[in-house]
Amino acid sequence: MKGIVFTELLEMIEEKFGYELVDHLLQDSSLQSGGIYTAIGTYDHAEMVTLVTNLSKQTKVPVPELLRAYGQYMFTAFTRSYRPFVDRADSAFSLLSSVQQYIHVEVRKLYPDAELPHFTIDQPAENHLRMHYTSERKLADFAHGLIEGCLATFGETATITKTILVEDGSQVLFDIVKE
Ligand code: HEM
Repeated sequence: MKGIVFTELLEMIEEKFGYELVDHLLQDSSLQSGGIYTAIGTYDHAEMVTLVTNLSKQTKVPVPELLRAYGQYMFTAFTRSYRPFVDRADSAFSLLSSVQQYIHVEVRKLYPDAELPHFTIDQPAENHLRMHYTSERKLADFAHGLIEGCLATFGETATITKTILVEDGSQVLFDIVKE
């Protein structure tokens, strides 16, 4: 995964739990990278899983909850680092609808080795967006947080219903219904 995924994760841990814990986690996790990440580097996806799993052990916060909080945090980071993608959209639904066909396409141009999920997206009603997530990395909880972060950025509220389509978590459906 790209370094930004790791640098933002460590920043969130520091903000929420303090630097001591970051230090402890990096020492404890015996990571191949040594815990040194640059924004444009590429690192093993397993390191993120290791960091979040160890963080969960330390904090007693369940892994899915941590991934979701991390998704929310990451979206805010995207609004800084990838501002033009956000400015192009005038609502949460317009941004979310463009993730597969536009945003991640542009991300792939910037980083040909990016590991991106696949989304099938449709809008059955004006207030209802459906996002079908597929990824071998099984990061639907992270996606959940990104969707929440996107809604919050546009000052919108919606009910997000998550349906697990494949038991291992590689396919998940999100029904996002605006109030
Ligand atoms: C400005 C908006 C966005 C930008 C710039 C962006 C960019 C990226 C980048 C750089 C990665 C990391 C790729 C890698 O590590 O190799 C990523 C991964 C991911 N993105 Fe996006 N993204 C955006 C919005 C979204 C939204 C709104 C969603 C969810 C609805 C989403 C879902 C994901 C997921 C779940 C991953 C993790 C990889 C996986 O599950 O296989 N992204 N994205």
